[in-house]
Amino acid sequence: MSTPLTRRRVLKGSLSTAVAYLAGCTTTRESASPGRATRQSQLVGFKPLQRGSANGKSVAIADEYSFQTFLPWGDPLTADAPGWDWPPTAQAQAQQIGIGHDGMAYFSLTEDGSHGLLALNHEYGSNPHVLGVRAPTTLEQVRTSQHAHGVSVIEIRERKGEWEVVPNSTYARRIHVNTDMRMTGPLQDHALVSNPANNPVTGTLNNCSNGRTPWGTYLTCEENFNFYFGSVTELQPTPAQERYGLHPQGSYYDWHQFDSRFDLANESYVNEHNRFGWVVEIDPKAPNSKPSKRSALGRFKHEGATVTESADGRAVVYMGDDQQFEFIYKYISRASWRSMIDEGVSPLDEGILYTARFNDDGSGEWLPLTIDHPKLAEHFDDQADLLVHCRMAATLIGATQMDRPEWVTVGPGGEVYCTLTNNTRRTATDAANPKAPNPYGQILRWRENGEQDAKSFTWDHFLVCDDVYETEESLGSPDGLWADPEGRLLICTDGPQLADAPNQLMVADTTTGQLSRLLVGVNGCEITGLTTTPDRKTLFVNVQHPGNGNPEITSFPAPDDGKTVPRDCTLVVRRKDGGVIGS
Ligand code: FEO
Ligand code: CA
Ligand code: CA
Repeated sequence: MSTPLTRRRVLKGSLSTAVAYLAGCTTTRESASPGRATRQSQLVGFKPLQRGSANGKSVAIADEYSFQTFLPWGDPLTADAPGWDWPPTAQAQAQQIGIGHDGMAYFSLTEDGSHGLLALNHEYGSNPHVLGVRAPTTLEQVRTSQHAHGVSVIEIRERKGEWEVVPNSTYARRIHVNTDMRMTGPLQDHALVSNPANNPVTGTLNNCSNGRTPWGTYLTCEENFNFYFGSVTELQPTPAQERYGLHPQGSYYDWHQFDSRFDLANESYVNEHNRFGWVVEIDPKAPNSKPSKRSALGRFKHEGATVTESADGRAVVYMGDDQQFEFIYKYISRASWRSMIDEGVSPLDEGILYTARFNDDGSGEWLPLTIDHPKLAEHFDDQADLLVHCRMAATLIGATQMDRPEWVTVGPGGEVYCTLTNNTRRTATDAANPKAPNPYGQILRWRENGEQDAKSFTWDHFLVCDDVYETEESLGSPDGLWADPEGRLLICTDGPQLADAPNQLMVADTTTGQLSRLLVGVNGCEITGLTTTPDRKTLFVNVQHPGNGNPEITSFPAPDDGKTVPRDCTLVVRRKDGGVIGS
């Protein structure tokens, strides 16, 4: 559950945090990675793993910590679901944990936090990994792949120091590409999301990062939805389709060969692609509730949706569009979320969406994406049309083209961090995106000029990875990100690391800039997804696509034998002395 992040909380927080907050406000643009490693960390007490110390076959973790592998792809969600077998049938996969573990959130059911629901995204699973073939040859195989995507809601608990799945859960649930959904907000019942086939709005896919709302729901974010659409017939994509990467040869999955919903040239499903690229709200505690596609938050390749609150209780949602030269967004609800829920209106259905302009002098503005803007009124029929084509609207009003915005997190002083993972195609720099090309990425930080719903901000870089890439603190392609309430920043990587090291989890002390390596994954994997129990003593973090699905690279989490198919899974990470994560 989020709590309001106001300046008052900074004053009540630790002195070091308050100092960091104030120091950051005056950081100059010349100092790309301010205050780095100038003094010993008071926040991080573990001995960092040395660079190059992991073997790439199994996960390595700092000595002070332990981990349990948990919730592997294909495990049954409940006692009566089929067990792991490879490749899975479509029917089995719909009752098992999906693949491509990414963003997730833990919702506690008990006061002590030892029993709860984990909502877990399933972003990605290649055909060879899921099906054992390059492309599906039957509709049954397409359905297996579709059921491997989406979200799992899993009831879990701790027993004698180990975490387990609750076998007879009434909450356990799979949401996938064929689950009934509602489209809400400006796109509800709109022509742009209606098909001649009259098919209902169904399914979510490429579920990347996430969010959680103060009212207790889960947000799952649809990222590279274009990879699921293709066509067997010639088709000239429209400019809007081009902008979103939709084209006849664009499918990674070949679902369109057997499921015409994903055939761009099929007139019966002409607007199906407009139904993807949204933030989807799920109530994990209401297993029969229909997920809602919240169209007011815009359509783009959503990485995550990080929710915080303004002083007057409005929901503020920060979002990145993860593609080279795309934008950062912020949504502010019309009124306080409590009053809107009392009215029977979702706080995510009525509000204003903004996109960010980062000026070279360290200032920034939130530019409203509303149809009453003369330039936008000229190009779009109505607010729904604008939201479906959000990227084009943001370009028209002069948003800053960023280096692939990934996760956003809000620190204890209300400061906001955003990972910009890399951009190998950048040829011209600006102050916020200072490397061209940019193979290693950066972490941007801003502070709203006032409360969280302010329309302008002040920004700097928390870290430019190029500054540390060749050092012991090396990291590149920052992606998953979580700021704890004490000034630590947990950073996951997804991309090339120095000397071909596997992806990793680093802990930054934001008061000193020091970076400490907590965990290193296996070859071919991404480390992603960060959520903790309320006491912050248990961290759940994911190993996505270990070995890129190839057992010759690793069989993780099974012992390495060169044959056993590796499985995406969650790691339950704890400090051996029971301390908080990151300490
Ligand atoms: Fe799914 Fe941008 O990572
Ligand atoms: Ca990511
Ligand atoms: Ca990434």
